[in-house]
Amino acid sequence: MRAVVFSRYGDENVLELMERPEPTPADGEILVEVKAAGVNPVDWKHREGAVRNDRPFPLGMGWDVAGVVRSTVPGGPAVGEAVYGMLPLPYGGAYQELCVLPVSAVAPKPVSLSYAEAAAVPLAALTAWQALETAEVTAGLRVLVHAGAGGVGHFAVQLARHLGAHVTATASPHNLEFLRGLGVDEPVDRTTADLAAGEPFDVVLDTVGGLVQHASWRLVRTGGTLITLPEPVNEAHRLPGITAHRVIVTPDGEALRRIGELIDSGAVHVEVQTVLPLQKAAEAHRMSRGGRVRGKLVLGL
Ligand SMILES: NC(=O)c1ccc[n+]([C@@H]2O[C@H](COP(=O)([O-])OP(=O)(O)OC[C@H]3O[C@@H](n4cnc5c(N)ncnc54)[C@H](OP(=O)(O)O)[C@@H]3O)[C@@H](O)[C@H]2O)c1
Repeated sequence: MRAVVFSRYGDENVLELMERPEPTPADGEILVEVKAAGVNPVDWKHREGAVRNDRPFPLGMGWDVAGVVRSTVPGGPAVGEAVYGMLPLPYGGAYQELCVLPVSAVAPKPVSLSYAEAAAVPLAALTAWQALETAEVTAGLRVLVHAGAGGVGHFAVQLARHLGAHVTATASPHNLEFLRGLGVDEPVDRTTADLAAGEPFDVVLDTVGGLVQHASWRLVRTGGTLITLPEPVNEAHRLPGITAHRVIVTPDGEALRRIGELIDSGAVHVEVQTVLPLQKAAEAHRMSRGGRVRGKLVLGL
C-alpha cells in the first residue's frame, strides 16, 4: 500500500510517499481503507520529534481517518460500512491507504459529509468536546475560545453554542465574519482587542499557548476554569481561585457518534479549507505549521 512515512525527525522534506506492508489488525482493531486523512498540528510536531513514540523508523503519520471498513471484529461496524475515527496517540498511521484502529475509536461517517469532510472532524472535534466537558460548560456560561477559526476552535465555538453558552472567540480580522456565521456571540479581533478590559469569563479555552496562556489567567473569573491544549499549565503564572487543566484528546467512538448526529442535524458545520492529494503531505504540513488555517486541512487518497 502507499503510505506517507518518515525515517528521521526533521522538516517537511523528511516525509516520503512509499510502498509499505499492509497493517494487520490486533485484537479489538478494525482495518479501514482510508479515503481521506485529516491534518492536525500534532502531525508536524510528531515529524519534528516533539511528539515521539517507541516504534522504529519509518514511522507512520496522522491520526484522523475516514474510510471504508475492510475487516472487522464481533460487534463492530460491517465490512463495507463508511466510518470515521481517530487513531490513539502517539502512534500515527492515517496518511496511508489502509490503517488499523481500535473499534472503540470509530463511529459511522456522518451521512451529510464527504469522506474529506469527515476526516476533518475526529481529533479536533473530540478535543473541543473533551475540553468543554472538562470545563463543565453549561447553558448561560460565558466562554472564551482563542483562535475560534482554527481546527479545534471552530468546533469548540459551535459545540459551546449548542450547549447554550455565551461564546466569545478571537480571530484575525478576515475571520470575524466566519465566526459570526458559526454562531459566535462576540467575535473579537485578536490583533486589537483588550479582553482584560471587559467582563471576565467562566471558561477560557487556550488553543494557542505561550503568551496567550499567560494572558488567559487574567480573563477567567474567580471560580472559573482555564483549559489549555498546546502546552501544560504553566504553574508560574497560576492565579488563585482558578481551576486549570490541560486536556489531552483521546479517541472516543461514542462521542464521535454523537458529534456526527450534531453534524447531520446541521448544528455543527465542518470547515475544510483545502483538500490536497496524499503526495502533497509536505505542503499540508507547511500550511498547518504556518498557523493560519481556517478550519481544517485534509489529504484525499
Ligand atoms: N492537547 C491536545 O490533545 C490537543 C488537541 C488538539 C490540538 N492541540 C493543540 O492545540 C493547538 C491548536 O490546534 P488546532 O488544530 O486548532 O490548530 P490550527 O487549526 O492550526 O489553528 C489555526 C488557527 O490559529 C489561529 N492563531 C494562530 N496564531 C495565533 C495567535 N498567536 N493567537 C491567536 N490565534 C492564533 C489562527 O487564527 P487567525 O488566522 O484567525 O489569526 C488560525 O485560524 C495546536 O498547538 C495543537 O497542537 C492539542
